[in-house]
Amino acid sequence: MGPGMEALWEGLREAALAATGQAPTAAAVEEVRVHYLGRRGELTTALREVGRLPAAERPAAGAAGNRVREAIEAALTARASEIAGRELAQRLRDEAVDVTLPGRRPAVGHAHPLTSARRDIERIFASMGFAVADGPEIESEWYNFEALNIPAGHPARDMHDSFYVDADPDPGEPAGRMLLRTHTSPVQIRYLHARGGALPVRVIAPGRIYRRDDDATHSPMFHQIEGLLVDRGVTFSHLKGVLAEFARRLFGPETAIRLRPSYFPFTEPSAEADASCAFCRGTGCATCKGSGWIEILGCGMVHPRVLQAGGYDPEEVSGFAFGMGIDRVAMLRYRISDIRLLFEGDLRFVEQF
Ligand code: DAH
Repeated sequence: MGPGMEALWEGLREAALAATGQAPTAAAVEEVRVHYLGRRGELTTALREVGRLPAAERPAAGAAGNRVREAIEAALTARASEIAGRELAQRLRDEAVDVTLPGRRPAVGHAHPLTSARRDIERIFASMGFAVADGPEIESEWYNFEALNIPAGHPARDMHDSFYVDADPDPGEPAGRMLLRTHTSPVQIRYLHARGGALPVRVIAPGRIYRRDDDATHSPMFHQIEGLLVDRGVTFSHLKGVLAEFARRLFGPETAIRLRPSYFPFTEPSAEADASCAFCRGTGCATCKGSGWIEILGCGMVHPRVLQAGGYDPEEVSGFAFGMGIDRVAMLRYRISDIRLLFEGDLRFVEQF
């Protein structure tokens, strides 16, 4: 191999190694590789030229050229892995996670105060053997009034200022106008029908009800839980016992109840039940308006006509019923003064409970 060839290889080697050493990135290393070792690269082209040399010079020239190629390849590989190592170190630095930072808690939702009041009430009655039922919110006058001993013209209808709707009773049900139910009491009748004369009947029925009322203590939509127990030999003392147990479980073991005579068309006799104020223990405070008692529900012995409307014989069985406002219970419990806050869905309010 002549000195010209020698210088050529040496020149290519030095130039390629210098370029490799200065390539700053993996892409630049690849450019260098293509420039020297690619199909039309400088070294590849020079190696091709070896074929044109006199036969005697070819082996030495070819071998020398291949050694240069191997040297360049080795330098490229070394440079590439050096860069990869540096890039990895950089990423590890940039993307480092500080495991000592305090974690971010996921926001956990919770039940609305009305929902938790309803569930607590349901749980107490369920533990006393009451089933839970529901009924339609669009109800017929027959179920909402007539069957509950509130005939047309009865003054109680005025107290239930109603929203009438343009609809028809279900096929097979008594004719009449339809309305948004004004109380959960019609579920008494529907449930008696569903039981078809079986005993005992022990049910509560929570749900939405509607009246044309709207101020700080009245909302056109609110909630009640109805209770009904029918069996042979049920007396007023059973009612009182169940209510006393309920009040103790809901408001605390020291809670007392008192019953005041009242009137409801669907019960006879009827009463209003007060619980001793859980906030002042009966001594009088703002929540109980100084009286020491808080009204919690209406109740009474089921009127014979109501038992009859439900398909039960008042000569054979008797029962008690009660109805309470869930919204009132939630408001009392959390000392909420405006019922409308319960329905506005403002998270600043809801999140306080
Ligand atoms: N339905 C009555 C109302 O909305 C509440 C009520 C009172 C229900 C006495 C009853 C009851 O079952 O016995 O005002």
